[in-house]
Amino acid sequence: MKSINIGIIGAGYVGLTTAACFAHLGHNVICVDNDENKIKILLSGKIPFYEPGLDKLVIENITQGRLQFTTQTQKAVKESLVLFIAVGTPPKESGEPDLSYVENVAQEIGSVLNDYRVIVEKSTVPVKTGDWIKETITRYNKSKAPFDVASNPEFLREGSAINDFLNPDRIVIGVESDRAKEILLQIYEPINAPKIITDIKSAELIKHASNAFLAMKISFINSISIICELAGASVDKVAQGIGLDKRIGPAFLNAGVGYGGFCFPKDLKAFIKIAEELGYDYRLLKEVERINEEQKQRFVKKIEGLLWNLRGKQIGILGLAFKPNTDDMRFAPSIDIINELQARGAKIKAYDPYAMNNAKKILKDVTYCNDPYEVAKNSEALVIITEWDEFRNLDLMRIKELLKLPIIVDGRNIFDPPKMAELGFIYRSVGR
Ligand code: UGA
Repeated sequence: MKSINIGIIGAGYVGLTTAACFAHLGHNVICVDNDENKIKILLSGKIPFYEPGLDKLVIENITQGRLQFTTQTQKAVKESLVLFIAVGTPPKESGEPDLSYVENVAQEIGSVLNDYRVIVEKSTVPVKTGDWIKETITRYNKSKAPFDVASNPEFLREGSAINDFLNPDRIVIGVESDRAKEILLQIYEPINAPKIITDIKSAELIKHASNAFLAMKISFINSISIICELAGASVDKVAQGIGLDKRIGPAFLNAGVGYGGFCFPKDLKAFIKIAEELGYDYRLLKEVERINEEQKQRFVKKIEGLLWNLRGKQIGILGLAFKPNTDDMRFAPSIDIINELQARGAKIKAYDPYAMNNAKKILKDVTYCNDPYEVAKNSEALVIITEWDEFRNLDLMRIKELLKLPIIVDGRNIFDPPKMAELGFIYRSVGR
């Protein structure tokens, strides 16, 4: 394999994982971030968020000299053949993504370009962003150096980012020239996965369409969970029954309190917005969003339905992160659920194995505990919002003794209803 010099601009989840994994594959990688503090942390061998295995991979590759960190975009542009733009595209008030960071990087790259480079969009961006990147680089490219723009969307999930990167279902390469195509294929040569070569706009759409489809699957099964509750059926059996149909597939059919995180909520909004700009009212996706919001409201009503009045009652929350194996609290369902419970007068105690530091920055008036048992102590009900493995292995008899009332409301369906009834719990989950 030929090792290639790669620059990654942006050291967030996607940028840092991409940088560490490309280095692991044998390429020479320079990872850039304009946040000096972040670069200091990375140079000291630590990573600024929790992602299983990433710290080890970063240290290994720094030690072997294949991974460097800098705050200087210019250095990466000078020394790399391929530059990946992996900066943030946070949502604006309107739901549109803020693409100003992408634009800034394109300007910076354009103004220091002096030889052929491939500039690749890695951040999730709306269709046609590639056109803007190309236009921006052309405008700032005083030396008229040749370049290609490409799109290579990322499909990694937080919590399993490295494995998703190294063992992907597919690699999508959107290009306009054979030269860029061959270079990107060389970069990914060690990875054994189908490679989809297409134009830039289709590649951009593949990313939004994938996330929209997965969010739709979740809202679909959540809508089925409502029917199951109304009809007296069991959503896990329905999910199993439909999921075994190969055309449907079993993944992303777990009913619960809805999806959160920094991808689905913002990407759906962005996709709806770009569709609107293109002249299409994406009502299907608006309904996916609505079901997701409703799911959290229904969950709060379920808790209220069991406890009658919430005023002054202590509720114990297990799990705050938007999903297990991450400390990410962005758009976590726990935020809306806790805010709603507090608005109804409940007092909240909570525990999460990794996300409490981030939660403290967002949630107010929450008593944080050292473990699930401290949460259970004197609570009127225990509420599960994130399905950490730690919660699956709880000593339930101890929990029952500590709780004021033996009530568990499970937003992620981690326990078996008949078993919980046998243990003497009043147990409610989603769609069962
Ligand atoms: C998601 C996609 O899965 C990745 O492919 C994509 O690369 C990423 O967004 C991105 O665009 O960067 P991620 O947000 O890390 O990844 O997390 P997921 O595992 O997809 O979970 C998203 C949310 O859906 C979580 O809140 C999770 O609890 C929820 N979910 C997931 C369900 O409620 N039910 C399910 O069956 C699956």
